[in-house]
Amino acid sequence: MVADEETTRGGGRRFARPVKVAALATHVPPRVMTNADLEKLVDTTDEWIRQRTGIVERHVVDPGVGTSDLIVPAAKEAIARAGLTPDDIGVIVVGTTTPDTVFPSTACLVQHKIGASKAWGFDLGAACSGFTYALTTATELVATGAHGHALAVGADVMSSILDYQDRTTCVLFGDGAGAVVVSAAADGEPAIIDYCHEVDGSGGPALRLPAGGSLRPASHETVDQRMHYVHQDGQAVFKFAVRKTEEICRRMLARNAIEADQLDLFVSHQANKRIIMSAAERIGLDPAKVVINIERYGNTTGATIPLALGDALADGRLKQGDLVLLASVGAGFTVGSILLRWAF
Ligand code: UT7
Repeated sequence: MVADEETTRGGGRRFARPVKVAALATHVPPRVMTNADLEKLVDTTDEWIRQRTGIVERHVVDPGVGTSDLIVPAAKEAIARAGLTPDDIGVIVVGTTTPDTVFPSTACLVQHKIGASKAWGFDLGAACSGFTYALTTATELVATGAHGHALAVGADVMSSILDYQDRTTCVLFGDGAGAVVVSAAADGEPAIIDYCHEVDGSGGPALRLPAGGSLRPASHETVDQRMHYVHQDGQAVFKFAVRKTEEICRRMLARNAIEADQLDLFVSHQANKRIIMSAAERIGLDPAKVVINIERYGNTTGATIPLALGDALADGRLKQGDLVLLASVGAGFTVGSILLRWAF
């Protein structure tokens, strides 16, 4: 289950060469859906949503807009901010649960739309750990020397798989995209230090989209039974997320010989403000170092971490050289954590 025990305690991961996050950009669709809007659709209240989740509003796409449409502006901007052109990108890794279509992959659509003529790429399914898994994969593809620059993306149009008759799920999610350029770093430059991922497939039933895959292809029956929407056992996911976020962060800190108070910023997947704050408290993190922006976007699945990094950069909380810990827990269950020095 744990794929990374070769890492040396106290030394972090030994990459073949240093790799950094060279640039970041995000994009959300302009349309905002508030808690008051949801009060008109299901039996819920603004007060319940705020208290139980921290969410105030979320962005949702208009009909006809797919995940690749959200990625393209973020990808173009990230590449420009890195001082590159799309032709400099060697590989595109898209973490998404809501690809535009089963195939072609969203990475192929993005490659064409941004004109990354020399890139190959693929989608990666890790639900809410989509960004951490994509960033790790891109990092290793650059670290091996296979590519000078990679694009790692976390993006989802969750509104496309939400049942707006189910108050237990439809209030939780939103749409968004984030892209980072991952590049080889010079020795001594702030770089990615370590990563740690896990899967616990026994948690699959707790959060899933029951139909539309090979096991239960779309049929009148699956549509009638509302099986093409998110189904979740919220409390099971909540408990696992708090426990695992703490566990993976403690492991990451211990094997890099870092105390919690040495971190400058903790950027967790944004599924629920209570999950993030409970995990941060258990790890012993100063609440001032915890980034929370779920109130503006809801849970955007693959996009939450880049959106949180983007907001922290914009408001000056994230600066060059900062020691940053990323963490994610998602359907699967998938678990991810990345430790890095911020490079710009
Ligand atoms: O990204 C990874 C995936 N997702 C997560 O990490 C989510 C993890 N889970 C959670 O964040 C929380 O479990 C939820 C926010 C989903 C639910 O919060 P909770 O405190 O665990 O509530 P609950 O499921 O125990 O429900 C409490 C009550 C229930 O009513 P009764 O049975 O006590 O009468 C629900 O029916 O709240 C009710 N309820 C609602 N009421 C108003 C559930 N959803 C709503 C709603 N509005 N939207």
